Amino acid sequence: MKIFVINGPNLDMLGVREPEIYGSDTLESINAELADYCTSVGVEPVFMQSNSEGELVNIIHSAYTEKADGIVINAGAYTHYSVAIRDAIAATGLPCVEVHLSNVHKREEFRHKSMISAVCTGVICGFGKKVYRLAIDALIL
Ligand code: DQA
Repeated sequence: MKIFVINGPNLDMLGVREPEIYGSDTLESINAELADYCTSVGVEPVFMQSNSEGELVNIIHSAYTEKADGIVINAGAYTHYSVAIRDAIAATGLPCVEVHLSNVHKREEFRHKSMISAVCTGVICGFGKKVYRLAIDALIL
């Protein structure tokens, strides 16, 4: 089973960026830990990150062309306003789990709205780096 794990803007700054909100792990270490977990449950992860909206659209399309079985996406701030990312997820027709490290509903009002939730299978937020593992579980169990 192949799962694309896609991170959007500013998630390459994890570890440095507002650690009181996002934790002190880097994306590299989160991905390394997740890769081990994926191996243990027979999942082949494909890790992608981009700060650019168009690039993320291309990455989401590549999940379809590369015959992925599902997508885990933390679209960062694009979550809250990108119709293009929403349409790209819908276009793939793939099961998709929206994740956020922080509980966006406890934060500023502009983070309460997601453009992508309605085209995702489900949403997991607020559990720090565990959200990625929980999302893998949600896709395979
Ligand atoms: C985030 C929450 C978003 O509101 C924010 O813009 C991010 C990270 C999270 O993982 O908690 O960049 O998606």
